This record gives sequence, structure tokens and C-alpha cells, in this order.
Amino acid sequence: MILIKLGGSVITDKTQYRTFNQECVSRLFDEIKKSERGVLIVHGAGSFGHVIAKQYSLQNGLVDFGQIPAVAKVQYDVRELNSMIIAELLKKGIPAVSIPPGSCFIMDNGKLIIKDPEVMLAFSHLGLMPVLFGDVVIDRKKGFGICSGDQIMEILCDLYKPEKVIFVSDIDGLYDKDPKNNKDAKLIDEVTSEKLENINSYSNIDDVTGGVRGKMEAMLRISTERRDCVLINGTVPDRLYSLLKGDKVISTIAKGGLK
Ligand code: IPE
Repeated sequence: MILIKLGGSVITDKTQYRTFNQECVSRLFDEIKKSERGVLIVHGAGSFGHVIAKQYSLQNGLVDFGQIPAVAKVQYDVRELNSMIIAELLKKGIPAVSIPPGSCFIMDNGKLIIKDPEVMLAFSHLGLMPVLFGDVVIDRKKGFGICSGDQIMEILCDLYKPEKVIFVSDIDGLYDKDPKNNKDAKLIDEVTSEKLENINSYSNIDDVTGGVRGKMEAMLRISTERRDCVLINGTVPDRLYSLLKGDKVISTIAKGGLK
């Protein structure tokens, strides 16, 4: 089985509040179908989550009660996005069900805990695809917190032991500088713990969950000696399909785990 995270940058327009990239999502699901590989999908929040989460600093947990209506709004918005994702999967004949992290799981000082995965695993055993996503989740220490799709990926790796993990984004991979502002930015095709030390930290200002470096660290934690974790550009047609078929594609591959 292959575990895939569809990043918010590919399934939404991150600069426009609540803009769903329906065409792109539909094409990506066609590519998954065409590859005939068994997959599990997690998705990010994009502009359905980050815009309001940033405005009300939801990533810091409960600071003042003025944040509470924003918690409800973000939860509502990411559920709407999840419904649109599930609708696309159903159109392709992939039976998918929603598992909203905010209603099932808890965090402890920012760390996501899935105590009881029984429901999720039972859906999988029936041949249904549980779809989890970035959400606002209750935190025992901070009141609430932002649970990113990347944190969910780490937990699903422990539960499902996928053979490969893919992060689908709107960039070709990790660059040594922010490629959106630097024309001379170079793609790094392989990342190891040692190489990460030398990479400049840059991040998208609208992202409340750690930016590119945070994502690479999460990818390294997910990778093992036997399991690569690959970051690809999902806006390029057939790149996901080629990778699923086992071809070498333009990407950044995280290898060997985070040391
Ligand atoms: C963020 O999830 C969740 C919220 C802001 C509610 P992610 O961090 O996984 O989302 P993307 O992929 O960066 O958009």
C-alpha cells in the first residue's frame, strides 16, 4: 500500500480563501485509478484552513476566547473541503469515508495521539478508504491545536506500514532557496538528515504548520532504511501516475530516517 498526502497547495488555491482546485484533484484521482495501486489518502487544508487559522493564531492554542468562533469556522471549512475530496473519489468509483481528526483524536501539547484506531481500521478491512485531513483538534495542554496532515501521515505509517509514502505539492521538490522568489534556486533530489542541516529554512507565510523545512523533517521521520518518502509536483500531469508505476520522476526523496 502507498500512503499519499495531497497538500493544500495542490488541492486549493492557497492565496484565495476557500478555493477548491477541483480539476486538479479529479485528474490526480484519475492517475491513482489508472496506476491500479492500493493507496490511502490524507489531505491538507490549504486556503480552507490556513487563512483563518493564521488570522486567529490557532496554532498557538487557546490564548483568548475571541478565537473560539474561528475554531468552529475552520472545522466547518475543512469538513466542506473533505466532502468535496470524497465526492471526487466517489465519482471515480473509489469508496471513501471521512474520518475527521477533530472529532476522533486528541493532541497532547502539539503531539497527535490516536488511542483507538478501531473504526478507521475496520473501514479499511471492509474495503473502504478512510480519508483523514488537517483539522483543529482538542489539545489536553493548550485547549486546542492545529493538527496537520503531515502529523497524521506519521501516525498512519505506524498503523498501516505503507511500502512508500508520497507528498503531493505544487513544487517539484525541495529547493536550496525559496523557488518562488529566487530564480537560481536548485532542486535537491535527495535529502538525508545530514543534508537537511545545510538547507536554508524558508516557508510560505500563509502556512501555520511549519513550511517546507517542517515538511521535510516530517518526511525524514517517515522515511526508513527500507521506505522512501517522496515529494512531487502534482500540478504536472502524470507525474503522480509515473511515480506510482515505479518510474523515476522529478522529485525530492527523503531517505534513511531523521537522526
Ligand atoms: C493544516 O493542515 C490544518 C489547518 C490549518 C486546519 P496541513 O498543514 O496538512 O495543510 P496544508 O497541506 O499545509 O495546506
